[in-house]
Amino acid sequence: MGTPLVVITGASTGIGRQLAHEFARHGFDLVLTADDDLLDTTVEEVGARGTRVRGMRADLATYAGTMELAERLDALERPVDVLILNAGVGAGGPFAGQTSLHDQLRVVDLNVAGTVHLAKRLLPSMVERGSGRLVVVSSTVAGLPGPYQATYNASKAFVSSFAAAIAVELRGTGVTVTTVLPGLTDTEFFARAGLRNTKLGALSFKDDPVRVARQTYAAVVAGRAHVVTGPAYNWLFVLAGRLLPDRLLARVHRVFSAPGSARDPVVG
Ligand SMILES: NC(=O)c1ccc[n+]([C@@H]2O[C@H](COP(=O)([O-])OP(=O)(O)OC[C@H]3O[C@@H](n4cnc5c(N)ncnc54)[C@H](OP(=O)(O)O)[C@@H]3O)[C@@H](O)[C@H]2O)c1
Repeated sequence: MGTPLVVITGASTGIGRQLAHEFARHGFDLVLTADDDLLDTTVEEVGARGTRVRGMRADLATYAGTMELAERLDALERPVDVLILNAGVGAGGPFAGQTSLHDQLRVVDLNVAGTVHLAKRLLPSMVERGSGRLVVVSSTVAGLPGPYQATYNASKAFVSSFAAAIAVELRGTGVTVTTVLPGLTDTEFFARAGLRNTKLGALSFKDDPVRVARQTYAAVVAGRAHVVTGPAYNWLFVLAGRLLPDRLLARVHRVFSAPGSARDPVVG
């Protein structure tokens, strides 16, 4: 058997970048994807570990960009052993106020459509081979309606439901599906989503993406259906999302996600 191959989307920064290091540490060959120049730096950095790493730039918020990536992966003529659908963005702010439709739709296009598109393109060959691992990065907020993050939380509800459903469809095929539910993690996410002036953005006790990557790796290798990363209390968010009424959850979420809610907004 040859060296296994992992494909990681959103691998230039944050959780995806640390997942790349983690899989490299365990001897995988890697294809890393993202949409800007930072990807080259990550590819170089991960390649310094002595593994084979290839970068493929693609805008996964577009149908054409996602299709092009899928075609480039086909052209490798190598089975993808692990597919990690991690690329994601948020768009903070009042939905009916000064947020752009473009930004709101990009959340849906990347987090939802990009995830479905790549899974649909790559899963059939895994099923045909009778082996493979699909990993979908969702969030502990998947069960919480998120005022001022409405499309983001809804996108995570979608991917969690989607992954849980196909996991059952794929039982007995040799292909596993792992849903990853990170809690607040210290990455570029909050700045990119315009959340720096919120409590969510400013909270200092965020999880280390290195730890998130290690926990994810262990869960994927074990073929677990889901993993809640970070400290044990992150489970409370998941349980709350299952047990409490939406209206209450949304009101609590608003305290943390309302623009200007940070006592000490993050500067820079
Ligand atoms: N940080 C948290 O607290 C947290 C909590 C729960 C779940 N998550 C989820 O974890 C995943 C990773 O987020 P992160 O926290 O690591 O954030 P991050 O540091 O901002 O990383 C996001 C990644 O997605 C890529 N990306 C963004 N737009 C893209 C596009 N149009 N096409 C292709 N790639 C694109 C980014 O690369 P380019 O910009 O270079 O393209 C980057 O590599 C996301 O799905 C996020 O929703 C994060």
